[in-house]
Amino acid sequence: MKAAFTIDDDALRKIADDFRADMCAGLAGKEGATLRMLRSYAGLPSGKEHGSFLALDFGGTNVRALRILLKGGGEYEVLSKVAKPLTLPGVYDYVSADATAEEMFDFLASIIDEAIDGNRETKYLLGHTFSFPSAQTNISDARLIIWTKEFAVRGVEGEVVNDLLRAALVRQGLTNVTPNAVINDTVAVLLSAAYVHGDTKIGAIYATGHNTCYLEPYVGMAQPPMIINMESGGFRKLLPNRFDAALDEVSEKKGEQRLEKMVAGRYMGALFGMALAELMGKAGRAYDFTSIDLSRMLEDTGEKAQAAATIVETVTGEMLSAEDAVRVRGLARSIVARSVRLIAATFVGTLWQIAGSGEIRRQHIAVDGAVYEKMPLVKENLTRAFFELLGADAPKVDTILAVGGSGLGAALAAAMTERAEQR
Ligand code: BGC
Repeated sequence: MKAAFTIDDDALRKIADDFRADMCAGLAGKEGATLRMLRSYAGLPSGKEHGSFLALDFGGTNVRALRILLKGGGEYEVLSKVAKPLTLPGVYDYVSADATAEEMFDFLASIIDEAIDGNRETKYLLGHTFSFPSAQTNISDARLIIWTKEFAVRGVEGEVVNDLLRAALVRQGLTNVTPNAVINDTVAVLLSAAYVHGDTKIGAIYATGHNTCYLEPYVGMAQPPMIINMESGGFRKLLPNRFDAALDEVSEKKGEQRLEKMVAGRYMGALFGMALAELMGKAGRAYDFTSIDLSRMLEDTGEKAQAAATIVETVTGEMLSAEDAVRVRGLARSIVARSVRLIAATFVGTLWQIAGSGEIRRQHIAVDGAVYEKMPLVKENLTRAFFELLGADAPKVDTILAVGGSGLGAALAAAMTERAEQR
């Protein structure tokens, strides 16, 4: 069973190679490329951005509106923050097809209203982090290509999301708030890390969903470097196992987001549930575990894997022997390890692309998200995979946590757009 989730060194290297080749194919708009390589129309911040901006962070389990003061030199202060879950069972649900675009954007406008205490006087520019594949022709507007992460709200796909937001702000009476920038959450993470630390050219989210962006240097081409949202969760040059295939079959968007469905927090619990069912002789059943369940199982390093036994009993009603509990924890470990190794391979493919024919430079990879932050064994597996793939270059690269990067990045995008417009 563990073998189904094992990726050896050679397979890992091939994934990193294929990922880089797919990046090039996607950039060149070649048929057969699986990476969307979407333009963000943003470069890196100068570090001098300052002023007070609003940020709206939409795209995961929670939505957040923040008022952020940028002070320049990598300094900032969160002046206010409102966070709400997108679903409150029995009360509201702004994820499923039960909701319409209008209802969802009205909800977002009401949260923005709360973040500015109902102020209708002060003029605010708002940066919007919208974390789904979106086509842009400038930094101010983004058209949703397709929902991911099992979102299904009606009437948003194919629409310009900032138009929907602007209309909702008007309905809410917030004509003093102007959304002027919309970016992916990975782009927000990269902007925030580059503002605070420098030496960062790759930004990623490892949470409910997964994706990575990077600063494409456009070597030898008369184009300024631009952050590209790869939509790496859509990478498909992989070998899915029987559980991946079964999960894809029952997902909202069959055939899409194949890498994401193998690695992201939204899906790891479900993969575990299917593999566990097979172990228990109930193949075909899909037990409902979450990635938080996996996290709890892995936190327990005790000999008897008691946490695994307790969680499995709660979800399936089956009691495990200590020996079986240890095996089950092993399964959870291998699902997490596979997830991390796949992501590490895509990071390495990206490092190779940035380096071009030169050397890999010393740098950070900024990552935000609960799986990266809280799941045991993630950092260890990442480091190991970097060593396998990069050898002597591995110590040049580290991953840094960019908590809250989505909000800060959105504020930076609003500031960068304002400056560009003033020029
Ligand atoms: C979306 C990306 C996003 C990622 C992390 C994916 O499902 O397609 O745009 O960056 O989730 O939130």
